Amino acid sequence: MTELAVDPSPVRDGQIKRHGPDGFAGMRKAGRLSAETLDLLVDIVKPGITTLDIDDFVRNQFLKNGAVPATLGYRGYTASSCTSINHVVCHGIPNDKPLRDGDIVNIDVTCIVDGWHGDTSRMFPVGNVRRKAERLVEVTYEAMMRGIDQVRPGNTFGDIGRAIQEYAESQRYAVVRDFCGHGLGQLFHDAPNVLHFDEPGLKTAVLEPGMFFTIEPMLNAGKAGVKVLADGWTAVTRDKSLSAQFEHSVGVTEDGVEIFTKSPAGLDRPPYLPR
Ligand code: MF3
Ligand code: CO
Ligand code: CO
Repeated sequence: MTELAVDPSPVRDGQIKRHGPDGFAGMRKAGRLSAETLDLLVDIVKPGITTLDIDDFVRNQFLKNGAVPATLGYRGYTASSCTSINHVVCHGIPNDKPLRDGDIVNIDVTCIVDGWHGDTSRMFPVGNVRRKAERLVEVTYEAMMRGIDQVRPGNTFGDIGRAIQEYAESQRYAVVRDFCGHGLGQLFHDAPNVLHFDEPGLKTAVLEPGMFFTIEPMLNAGKAGVKVLADGWTAVTRDKSLSAQFEHSVGVTEDGVEIFTKSPAGLDRPPYLPR
């Protein structure tokens, strides 16, 4: 009779994994480091700083804390963060162009701590932002939270998507359909795809304790359409309208949800005044 001395490495087999206490403990550590890293960026993101400066900060912060950036070398991606400005929907690649007063930028970071992934993003206003942009950011945060409010055993992934879409559309914004949330844990992107909209006729899985996944809606001020630029990563709105996104990593508990990437400093949403 043979026995494995250690757990086999996790594989993406299409099944939605259910994790135990060790998984929750691992996700808490990883989620906290990613959230703390975004907390520190609140005082750094200002007009004049480049997204490469931000990326360097994120990488150093992770490495200093015994973690590694999950995006570094992931499917050919070479940065430690995604920085998506204004009409960039997601997967913006850090570069040496300074941020400008009035920009809104999504900073998306994922660390790996002891094999577990903490994946989170927030919108950062750069200097003084127009009311229109501010409102899109506020509604996008609220849309994510309405999705998270649906997370409890017995509800379905469809309930999450429907709550997000209903709220976004009631505020006259469009939900991006080309990107979705995802299972995560010891894998960065695992089953299931977590849609941020309702797909009529699609039967989605029932939430069970121990499932870990992200909720990361992207909302556009104009139409939902996106395209990916020639760099193979940068996704932008087809109509050049503003886009915003927030992301938390969450786990289903016995009676609800645990947000692994909650800001320890209470800086989950702009204007980032600690409360
Ligand atoms: N952090 C992103 C997500 O929320 C994934 C980025 S993959 C990269 O899933 F390669 F673009 F960095
Ligand atoms: Co994600
Ligand atoms: Co992310």
